[in-house]
Amino acid sequence: MFQLSNDAKQKVLTELKRYESKQSAVLPALYIGQKENKGHITPDVIRELSKVMEIPESQINEVFTFYTMYNKSEIGKNHIQICRTLSCMLNGSNELTEHICNELHVKLGEVSKDGNFTVTEAECLGSCGTAPMMQISKQDGSSRYYENLTNESAMNILRGLK
Ligand code: FES
Repeated sequence: MFQLSNDAKQKVLTELKRYESKQSAVLPALYIGQKENKGHITPDVIRELSKVMEIPESQINEVFTFYTMYNKSEIGKNHIQICRTLSCMLNGSNELTEHICNELHVKLGEVSKDGNFTVTEAECLGSCGTAPMMQISKQDGSSRYYENLTNESAMNILRGLK
């Protein structure tokens, strides 16, 4: 059964104090829950947040299912999100995604055998002029962005990750 650490619980309570409506604190609370649960949200995480925030699970679920930045299943230590929107697509993101998946021996959305990687596609990451690009997020929620990618430069970046 998932339980938030005392520190995370405190952070959720702090978020609750920042807003007039409890509902407004759900977005940051989900981030805290995701970080505590190795980068993804499960029904147990929703249940725990509901208990700590004293709001119905259904209200948390609504937010969770609406936004794409919360992971619905387990992810690797490095979550590689390759932009697939127009500029990136025209600049080879499909081929890049295929290349990365082949090199890492994973299908989209899977965790690699060593637990290090999950590859997914993302909608526009906001840097269309430097397409193609990818975002790599750690399980603690920190992210970095990489632009003007080629198959080679992307693989060099991935080889340097732990
Ligand atoms: Fe890829 Fe905008 S289309 S960053």
